[in-house]
Amino acid sequence: MRVSGSKNAALPIIAASILNGGLTELHNVPNISDIKIMLQILEKLGCKIEHDSDKIVINSKDINSFEIPADLMHKMRSSVSIVGALIGRFKNCTFTYPGGCDIGKRPIDLHLKAFEKLGVNVRMKETNIRCIAEEMKPSEIILDFPSVGATENIMLASIFIDGVTIIKNAAKEPEIEDLQNMLNKMGANIKGAGSDMIEIIGVDHLEDVSYRVMPDRIEAGTLLCAVAANNGSIKLINAEPRHMEKTLDKLKECGCNISIEKDQILLKAPEKLSNVDIETEPYPGFPTDMQSIFVATLIQSDGISSMEENIFENRYKYVSELRKMGVNIIQEERKIKITGEKNIKATNLKAMDLRGGAALVIAALQAKGISEISNIEYILRGYDKLDEKLRKLGAKIKVEEGE
Ligand code: EPZ
Repeated sequence: MRVSGSKNAALPIIAASILNGGLTELHNVPNISDIKIMLQILEKLGCKIEHDSDKIVINSKDINSFEIPADLMHKMRSSVSIVGALIGRFKNCTFTYPGGCDIGKRPIDLHLKAFEKLGVNVRMKETNIRCIAEEMKPSEIILDFPSVGATENIMLASIFIDGVTIIKNAAKEPEIEDLQNMLNKMGANIKGAGSDMIEIIGVDHLEDVSYRVMPDRIEAGTLLCAVAANNGSIKLINAEPRHMEKTLDKLKECGCNISIEKDQILLKAPEKLSNVDIETEPYPGFPTDMQSIFVATLIQSDGISSMEENIFENRYKYVSELRKMGVNIIQEERKIKITGEKNIKATNLKAMDLRGGAALVIAALQAKGISEISNIEYILRGYDKLDEKLRKLGAKIKVEEGE
């Protein structure tokens, strides 16, 4: 089973294509709706785009607008990385507050505070935010929280600032390393991505680039969990195991037999999963994006498992849907306790966000009978042909026409 390219690496990398005012050719880009929205925004700004399966060519020479269309900004929060890129190249961007997702408020205060430290004048108006800078200056920015998006946005906005900009308490996610690698391949001079301190030494221009996006560690984790929850086995290729240590550790702790060979991960699930206790943390801790997916997997475990969500304040919306299937989950604030339950019942379920929707798919695959999941546009935002991949693994799943 081949893992697709990473959504969360591809999105900021697509925004970075604004910076070179030339050609960016990307490979291994997942074919999902979040990517399509990002490309629509770039086209509205004046970019020329060629998109053919997992290859994209972006020409950002003729950008003629610095305003991100509100309707598209609302559709997808990660469009906020376009703000950093427009500030980086043009010192000018107008945008609306990005859509708060169903998983929490998701403010952008850390992004805006950082832009101001770089010399950007940030004007919060009634309906939109205006960022303009005459002269930008290098700065040492200490993030209050290791925000992935804010870390990426500072890298994009400071790329041409003469001098050294430093980010402390930077997020360490692998997607940030991928962004650094792509930017340096364009001619940028960035060091430290993957650690908590990143240095951006300003350059005066960036070249055309061709770049291959890293594998999606959350899609890989989702496929492993789907198999673990159905005591099956799977061989993943085009994966990056070193990005998934915590997820793999917890699957082993549940009793899965896992072996790794270069970009391959082999998993054999036990007859019965053991219960585990998990807390989500910033990378390299257990990823919040795997939280709901792992909870759905633990339905098959013996005894009581626990999950604590420490990154987002509202990422348990899927729990009420699992309870409809007869899953016994008790929530105390950020922590939930899941009692293993062999026989859960198929029923009609409603996806309410991307990873919560994926969790419902994993639960439905364990239930006796046919479950119907609505609002699957949430799931299609972040997974490339998930139904096809699961069918190849033996699942009986199909996407109804018109969804
Ligand atoms: C990225 O979101 C990912 N999205 C998320 O994946 C992921 O869950 C998250 O990082 C954490 O790993 C993309 O990369 C496109 P954050 P981002 O800024 O950048 C608070 C998925 O399912 N915060 O690290 O938005 C924020 O509210 C998605 O693929 C502020 O308070 O995450 C949250 O509680 C979901 N102020 C926490 O920090 C800010 O200015 C982490 O947010 C910014 C963030």
